[in-house]
Amino acid sequence: MGVKATKRGEKKWTQGHKFRADEWIDTTGRSDVPKNKSTANSRDLAGKPVSTSRTEMTEVVLPQDANVFGNILGGRVMHLVDIAAAITAHRHCRSMAVTASVDHIDFRNPIRIGEVIMLKASLNRAFHTSMEIGVKVFSEDILTGEKKHTTSAYVTFVALDENHRPKPVPPVICETPEDRRRFREALVRRKYRLAHRPNKP
Ligand SMILES: CC(C)(COP(=O)(O)OP(=O)(O)OC[C@H]1O[C@@H](n2cnc3c(N)ncnc32)[C@H](O)[C@@H]1OP(=O)(O)O)[C@@H](O)C(=O)NCCC(=O)NCCS
Repeated sequence: MGVKATKRGEKKWTQGHKFRADEWIDTTGRSDVPKNKSTANSRDLAGKPVSTSRTEMTEVVLPQDANVFGNILGGRVMHLVDIAAAITAHRHCRSMAVTASVDHIDFRNPIRIGEVIMLKASLNRAFHTSMEIGVKVFSEDILTGEKKHTTSAYVTFVALDENHRPKPVPPVICETPEDRRRFREALVRRKYRLAHRPNKP
């Protein structure tokens, strides 16, 4: 099993493909995908490189975003994290998608009114109908240019069809060693996440 470039620059699954060092697709680890989820199979879809869905958002922190100490509200950061992750999910699956879960979030450093908040989101791994997106948040002091990593979050989105049922998503193609590390680690987090998933009432 491998990948082949199509006219549109995407990559299709093929037999007997040998991977270049800079090309790595999620042929491994997909055995955890339940076979009874959907009649369609995510393996039949063309893989998409991580870079096609990577998202960056930048804005300035205004007084209405802040608490009484002049720091951005945690809820505002979570809102922006959700939006950056949603854009990445939609760019990858090109269909409707909803937030299924957000992992534990830490706020390591405050971001002050007047500072710039930057969010970088990228697709860590696509499973069957769900996708894990990692979002890193940074602050930037506009006078000194100093940047600080303030928050990291892992968000799971599920792609939905026209009947609002989960639908398969394309596999992701890792392009860098960093992509591959995130890809490997996403499977570990998924196992933990699903083991702690609450039962539906
Ligand atoms: C997310 C949602 C679509 C899942 O629907 P479901 O009928 O429970 O679907 P399934 O059990 O078949 O799971 C579908 C996928 O979602 C994943 N999933 C479901 N709940 C999850 C959770 N809490 N955390 C991570 N992944 C989850 C499953 O692992 C599965 O992924 P896979 O196909 O890649 O293996 C559904 O629970 C929902 O619509 N939730 C509300 C979403 C929403 O409104 N979000 C906005 C904020 S309220």
